[in-house]
Amino acid sequence: MTTLPLRIRITAWYFAVLATGFSLFGVIAFYAMRGSIHETVDENLQDQIQGVRELIERTSGKAELEHELEQDEEIRAGSDLLQVSDPAGNWIYRSRTMALYGPPAPRETRTSITTLQSNGVPLRVLTLPVQAGGKIYIVQLAYPLDDFYEALARFRRVLFLSSPLLLLLASAGGYWLSRRALAPVDQITREARSISAQNLSSRLLVPHTGDELQRLSETLNGMLARLEQAFRRITQFTADASHELRTPVALMRTRAEVVLRRPRSEEEYRETLRQILEDLQRTSSLIENLMLLARADSGTEALQRTRINMVESVGKACREGRTLAETKQISFLEELPESPVWIEGDSNSLRRLFLILLDNAVKYTAPQGRITVSLRSSDGCAVAEVRDTGIGIAAEDLPHVFERFFRADRARSRETGGAGLGLSIGQWIAQAHGGTISAFSKPGEGSVFQVQIPLVGEEEKAVGSKE
Ligand SMILES: Nc1ncnc2c1ncn2[C@@H]1O[C@H](COP(=O)(O)OP(=O)(O)O)[C@@H](O)[C@H]1O
Ligand SMILES: [Mg+2]
Repeated sequence: MTTLPLRIRITAWYFAVLATGFSLFGVIAFYAMRGSIHETVDENLQDQIQGVRELIERTSGKAELEHELEQDEEIRAGSDLLQVSDPAGNWIYRSRTMALYGPPAPRETRTSITTLQSNGVPLRVLTLPVQAGGKIYIVQLAYPLDDFYEALARFRRVLFLSSPLLLLLASAGGYWLSRRALAPVDQITREARSISAQNLSSRLLVPHTGDELQRLSETLNGMLARLEQAFRRITQFTADASHELRTPVALMRTRAEVVLRRPRSEEEYRETLRQILEDLQRTSSLIENLMLLARADSGTEALQRTRINMVESVGKACREGRTLAETKQISFLEELPESPVWIEGDSNSLRRLFLILLDNAVKYTAPQGRITVSLRSSDGCAVAEVRDTGIGIAAEDLPHVFERFFRADRARSRETGGAGLGLSIGQWIAQAHGGTISAFSKPGEGSVFQVQIPLVGEEEKAVGSKE
């Protein structure tokens, strides 16, 4: 089902609400007017009937009453619509006009006010039983409502005729207003439609109206800025990645070409193949890292997080780190707590994270240096630190060390074989655990890499301490 344009829908709603409002107003006004007419007429009838009642109570006997009623000027003047009967329905008196309208004698002897149609004329009739001389007389005083009802009918006609006209006018106005209000939305739509990957840096015009539409444009522009940044990062990543891959491939090709230029001894072939194999190993680990980051970006690299003791994962990484350090004559210290430190984590990824930090520490620390690994819990977090006495990181490089492909000293790092992806992967792992990683360093004195990962909840900790 296709939905109608917003302005049509707004107008339709407006129309519906207005129509309901008008109808309610009409109905209420009509009944309120009718009610107040009845009220006024009823009050009049009540007043007048008192005179008749007094007269009846003064007289004794039917004949006298008849006579009195016919003679009484006041009654004839004020209430020419009067009839009096006995409970059996026999007329005692009936004014001429009343006889003309001809409402029947009442059947009940109760006080009541009703509206009845008599010979096509609406009559408001007040019925009052009066007791006099041991007899009951039923007095009925009436008032014709035809003039009032005619006025009411005119009012209703005016309402019926003018409402549709007013509704139409108001709806046209509503349509015009909603068109005007929504015109900037169309503009935004047109502008947004023209933005694609080729011109991601263009922005929507922001109307300075201080209203929802300004907010909408600003929000969309903010979103575009974030998209542009993400897009830039991805293009940059692709460019850097292909560049990093080209270098070792070119190197292997050259090695192969050089060795094939003329016949070689078996020893020479062996040596070249060994070098190529080394290059290949490095390249495949680069590809593996690139793929991991790509999966992390697309959100498909999921961690298998379970409740684990971080002392164990750090300890495992330390055993490998110690071997690395010892081959380079660097002393290795572990400051791990006795009691377990429970976190929700993926032990393989955590091991990888600490190996990245330890590998760097060994790489950037000269022989005779020292590496210290520590773990403690503080403020609801497990805090692990890898500290070295290596070359350190310059202050201007420090904010960039977690960026992809960043190497403080490209020439030197190339020798050590890093592509500058280690810390980016490490940072992703820390963040995927809901944690953070930060670096502190003094050039020439050493560096500290600190990883913080939130501990598991209090209740789980309680269970953990029982084990
Ligand atoms: N412990 C450290 N001491 C000194 N510099 C470091 C240390 N760890 C990382 N760095 C710097 O940060 C850069 C990025 O590190 P990393 O992402 O692991 O890349 P790679 O080790 O492949 O060069 C390194 O090239 C190096 O300049
Ligand atoms: Mg590294």
